[in-house]
Amino acid sequence: MRVIVTPDIRTLGESAARVLADVVAADNGAVIGLATGASATPVYEALAEWQVDFFNVTAFALDEYVGLPPGHPQSYSAVLRRSVMEPLGMQSSRLHVPNVHGANLHSEARNYEQRIAAVGGIDVQLLGIGANGHIGFNEPGSSLSGRTRLAALAESTRRANARFFQEPAEVPRWCMTQGVGTIREARSLLLVAFGSAKAAAVAQALEGPITALCPASAVQLHPDVTVVVDESAAANLRLRDHYRAQQIVGVDGRGADHG
Ligand code: F6R
Repeated sequence: MRVIVTPDIRTLGESAARVLADVVAADNGAVIGLATGASATPVYEALAEWQVDFFNVTAFALDEYVGLPPGHPQSYSAVLRRSVMEPLGMQSSRLHVPNVHGANLHSEARNYEQRIAAVGGIDVQLLGIGANGHIGFNEPGSSLSGRTRLAALAESTRRANARFFQEPAEVPRWCMTQGVGTIREARSLLLVAFGSAKAAAVAQALEGPITALCPASAVQLHPDVTVVVDESAAANLRLRDHYRAQQIVGVDGRGADHG
């Protein structure tokens, strides 16, 4: 696991964006998994500033709310169009978001897995983390091998996401999310977090026991993980100094792999 601690949010966005830009530079038809929310925003802003060309990139959203009208500005489909597809010049046919408006949402969830498999899987999956340790919308208690499915949002997640809606009651109760098992199949994972509200979850995810109580702890099972956190989100990491040293001694200029 490679852990990069950055002094501020802008540097955090640039460090994570660099990982994605390198993947696209190596293969302009790369498949990228997209997160939404505040943590992903500085990453997309840096990519847009550098004008990284996503024309041939295929992207899969981690999740989508269930219960919002089609085209709702806070639906993740709309958010990803605004923050990724339009600024980076993606083709709309290559932006995949779970279809939450079909007649049978269970079969739509299976269909999403098939769409990911049909392009050969995800090269790099960007992840945020909830203060309760969720990744995607896999709330505590989710199977660490779960697949894309309908899931209920934790009340704490609904409260946290109320900032994006006019009324707290508008925040959906349900979503369709890639499962932790789906996420773990991406060839590499890139987890970003900033702010003190994430410090406990980041420490549990990276250094705590692997447990469904903290679904993000499943990243410990993945052989290729990069974590980019600011100083406040890194505050509870016991190995903080070790990660910093790894960043300094890295022979590839990006920090060594801690193993
Ligand atoms: C969003 C997602 C969530 C968020 C997480 C952190 O697609 O899957 O797991 O990444 O809730 O959200 P922010 O970054 O807004 O704190």
